[in-house]
Amino acid sequence: MTGGASLADALRSVQSRQRLHMPGHFGRVSPVPAAWGAQAAAWDQTESMGLDALSLPTGVLEAVSERAAAAYGARAAWLSVQGATLPVLAGSLALAAPGGRVLADRRSHRSVLAAAILGGWQVDWVCGEAGDPPDVAAWLRKLSGPRPDLVVPLYPSYEGLGRDLAPVVAQAHARGSRVLVDAAHGSHLGRAAGLPPHPLAWGVDLVAHGLHKTEPVLTQAGLLLAGPGAPAVLVWEWMRRLATSSPSYLLLASMEQYAEQRAAGDGGWIRFAAQMHDVWEQLAQRGWQVRQRVWSRAGQLADPAKLTVEGDGLRLAERLRRAGFEPEHADAAGVTLIAGPALGFDSRDWDRVIEALGDPVAPASGRAWWPAPAPAVLSPAAAVRAPRRRVGLGAAAERVAAAEITPYPPGVPVAVPGEHLSGEVVQWLEEAAARGVRLEGVDTEGGEVAVWVVDGDA
Ligand SMILES: Cc1ncc(COP(=O)(O)O)c(C=O)c1O
Repeated sequence: MTGGASLADALRSVQSRQRLHMPGHFGRVSPVPAAWGAQAAAWDQTESMGLDALSLPTGVLEAVSERAAAAYGARAAWLSVQGATLPVLAGSLALAAPGGRVLADRRSHRSVLAAAILGGWQVDWVCGEAGDPPDVAAWLRKLSGPRPDLVVPLYPSYEGLGRDLAPVVAQAHARGSRVLVDAAHGSHLGRAAGLPPHPLAWGVDLVAHGLHKTEPVLTQAGLLLAGPGAPAVLVWEWMRRLATSSPSYLLLASMEQYAEQRAAGDGGWIRFAAQMHDVWEQLAQRGWQVRQRVWSRAGQLADPAKLTVEGDGLRLAERLRRAGFEPEHADAAGVTLIAGPALGFDSRDWDRVIEALGDPVAPASGRAWWPAPAPAVLSPAAAVRAPRRRVGLGAAAERVAAAEITPYPPGVPVAVPGEHLSGEVVQWLEEAAARGVRLEGVDTEGGEVAVWVVDGDA
């Protein structure tokens, strides 16, 4: 336990810098209806007479879901007050049976692994080069193997990178597999020209969104959208099983406001996308590599809401903080900012960001790298329940991980339970620990970095 400042103090102090990260309202645009005024306390309700029930909506909440579905052109929509995590869990558990076989992007958020643990699935990971989104050929190669029950692409990635996955969806469906797209970072997609297409356009079965990540909606608001093949009855059952039975009506009202806004127009995204393309060009002229610009010029899909500037990210983050900006994420390879129309930045604001970045600096340790998956000897579900032992990181190589280890952000597990902790994974963890990265799942009791491994002697 650390003493000192209260949570309220901490919230006050972060307001001194402009946050270029989530939530998508950036603390600038009200994510609740203006009519509320000072009524927030009175509106902080949960299911009671006249307010419908999120678990079986037949009234006002049913109307919000219908509006949300219509705003996205989806067959149905389920509202989540548990971010994108609940849509990922409930949606994927509705699509794959216990013990099923699942193909998933290796850079998936830990919620996909959590679903695999709950479902007892065998996961076959699909990898892209150096942690980039896997290309279509990589997905199709995996799809030509044993038939998966479920395919889980990540689109767009945390850095806003994506590919046109229509051929992957078509091939998955041709093989009788279901497709859930984790589009936690893609609630705004398809809303305007200049943004990558929404994954519903590919005919997927389900799409999971974290509305708050890129749109002006209260934090923790999420959405699960149905395509033509979604098994609605099963999805309802899983949503009910996993959701809180005391949903916050503040969050639900924020979603209602957003559904109306999305149906009403582009929300400023057309202008914003054009502005960000200018920012990419200005940075490139000054000698910076902008990840999204490089990706887009290679003919792929890049989300203008993310700005990743390559270079020694920790130094760049310091430069930005000195100028009053707080980045979303910084690592040895670069710094990532999240922006959007709700930020309200004009060209002078972006000039200040560009000035703050200063002159290009080389990355601290070459291109960011991500260890390749090692062979799995147990399913994730079996590994987390196996007898386990704690070992120092130095003695962990080639042992079997008993728990996931996740650097946060971005919340992508680097070690997966049931897989060997390869020399590469151990090296990655050592480097990250030395840089002070927040590593969830390691044990630092007594000053030593230790991990949980399956106890082979037990
Ligand atoms: C790709 C991805 N999926 C799912 C989630 C879970 O979203 P939430 O934090 O809204 O529950 C995240 C969170 O960062 C994410 O990045």
